[in-house]
Amino acid sequence: MAIGVVSTSGMPREEAYRTVIAQARQLISDEKDLVANLANISSLLKHTFEDYLWIGFYLTSQSDPGELVLGPFQGRPACTRIRFGKGVCGTSASEKRTVIVDDVDKFPGHIVCDSLSRSEIVVPIISGGRVAGVIDVDSGYPANFGETDRKYLEELAEMLTQLF
Ligand code: SME
Repeated sequence: MAIGVVSTSGMPREEAYRTVIAQARQLISDEKDLVANLANISSLLKHTFEDYLWIGFYLTSQSDPGELVLGPFQGRPACTRIRFGKGVCGTSASEKRTVIVDDVDKFPGHIVCDSLSRSEIVVPIISGGRVAGVIDVDSGYPANFGETDRKYLEELAEMLTQLF
């Protein structure tokens, strides 16, 4: 059950996501550069949700389609490369599905980037049938992600496919 239901602005989480999605849609319609858009969307999410510790993107390597490489993010420095199938990000990428982890310590193979992280959601960005990357969000609270996060982060991932 998600506990951090209030955004920085005091809005309920669902309403805050709707605002972020609308802002992200506007950003993308004005600018086509992938890095610029992902950087601004990371910032939007980080500054909207006070209980999100780390938010960012891992992108499928151009030279190795079995590897994710760190993309734009907000939060502490993170590991730069993750193999498909490894950790929460690599599991999401290889299985092409959203993965929600209530307790990162109980996820076999979880890759620790920030020791303060307690729960995590990873959503794949699937473009033309291939995984172009993933959206990764960490929280310092356990079990802080649920169906609202899944719904809106999947909507965001779908919107981002046009950038690849
Ligand atoms: N915990 C992730 C690694 C990335 S960091 O959380 C930013 C994982 O297990 O894939």
